[in-house]
Amino acid sequence: MSRPASASGSVSNGKPSVPRAPKGTDDVLPPASERWRTLLRAFEDLAGRFGYGLVMTPLFELTELFARGVGEETEVVEKQMYTFEDKAGRSLTLRPEATASVVRAYLAAGLQGVFKGYYTGPMFRYEQPQSGRRRQFHQVGVEYLAETSPDADVEVIELGHRLLSDVGITDARVRLNSIGDAADRAGYRDTLAAFLTERLDALSEDARRRVATNPLRVLDSKADSGVVAGAPAPLDHLGPAADAHFEAVRRGLERRGIPFEITPTLVRGLDYYNRTVFEYVSASWDAAQDALGGGGRYDPLAGILGGPEVPGVGLAMGVDRIVAAMPELPAAGLDVFVAVADPGRRPEALGLLASLRQTGISADADLGGRSLKAQFRLAGRRGARVVAVVGEEWAQGEVTVKDMAGGDEQRVRIEEVPGWATHR
Ligand code: HAM
Repeated sequence: MSRPASASGSVSNGKPSVPRAPKGTDDVLPPASERWRTLLRAFEDLAGRFGYGLVMTPLFELTELFARGVGEETEVVEKQMYTFEDKAGRSLTLRPEATASVVRAYLAAGLQGVFKGYYTGPMFRYEQPQSGRRRQFHQVGVEYLAETSPDADVEVIELGHRLLSDVGITDARVRLNSIGDAADRAGYRDTLAAFLTERLDALSEDARRRVATNPLRVLDSKADSGVVAGAPAPLDHLGPAADAHFEAVRRGLERRGIPFEITPTLVRGLDYYNRTVFEYVSASWDAAQDALGGGGRYDPLAGILGGPEVPGVGLAMGVDRIVAAMPELPAAGLDVFVAVADPGRRPEALGLLASLRQTGISADADLGGRSLKAQFRLAGRRGARVVAVVGEEWAQGEVTVKDMAGGDEQRVRIEEVPGWATHR
């Protein structure tokens, strides 16, 4: 994967140019990162309120975990994994998703019983990069393990919906489907394969290959949507248990007031799912009907990984896409910029800065000894609401505060600065 620097960098005037970020990756810098912070905070807050605890798993795993967990036949495993050998010859893969890792971690720790974990972080898939389709992208997600109740599915779906509305995406809709249990799918697979076999000529090359190996995957092939529109749906082949489960999920969502639409062709790109599958879409993110997030129930996964039966349901939301779809935020800005009018008072100014920060106020200062005019310019650029000027009035226990929006300026007692700053 890695190439020698000389192959990717160029040399001009004998000086090597700064290497570019790898294709399909992004740098996120302030002020644009403010939206990321808003989203990550909203997610952590929500996950905490819903009773999920933080889970951290490695960014790379043994390749086998994803090959078995996500499924050999999936596009992710077939085409998109960043796989490499370490120095001891182990095959490792940068995680393309985190569900398999969380289940592995639960099993490895010997945990039993209900477990609710959330995670945030980068995932890696070798995709053709475009807007919202990155090679390194970020997810926030939750996994609810060892709970078979359809109310767990409802809770997870609700959490994703709440997250979107908390960051201002209020029109999100849930696309919902059930793909049944393995036994239901066996019969359905044959019916679908027979339907597709009759129409082989009209299918894409990928789809033709999948008819024999994994016909369900043809259902969400964009290239084959014409044929798929008339195909039999998994929903019509649910066994009684999966059918009752789906009914309970629908009722639960209705009770919670979460808008959803049943989407019979929704099958999702990962092989571990059974029963409930869902995705979130919004008019604010319409790129080729790509989802802002998705998930589902994956009762077979722990068994596939060699563990005992541990049912599970979870979701992952695409941070890059949600951030792009979020409405404009008011600029974050600083509460206070501490400026120094009298260079002799610098230590006192830095003391004031420290005490403001300690009281929970966001505050900054120029540490480079710039002129007062330059300090005001800097305060403006940093979006400071108030500038506190430390000058000769310090001797009387006072500073001059200036409201940057209204322009009014007055002398206040040093200890009153926090109150003054936070009531602007
Ligand atoms: P997924 O549908 O593969 O599911 O990914 C979830 C979300 O991650 C997608 O809806 C999308 O927003 C975002 N995403 C995926 N690939 C990219 C990409 N290349 N660039 C930008 N964003 C992307 C999973 O990963 C499952 N682990 C979800 C889950 C959790 N199921 C159960 N528990």
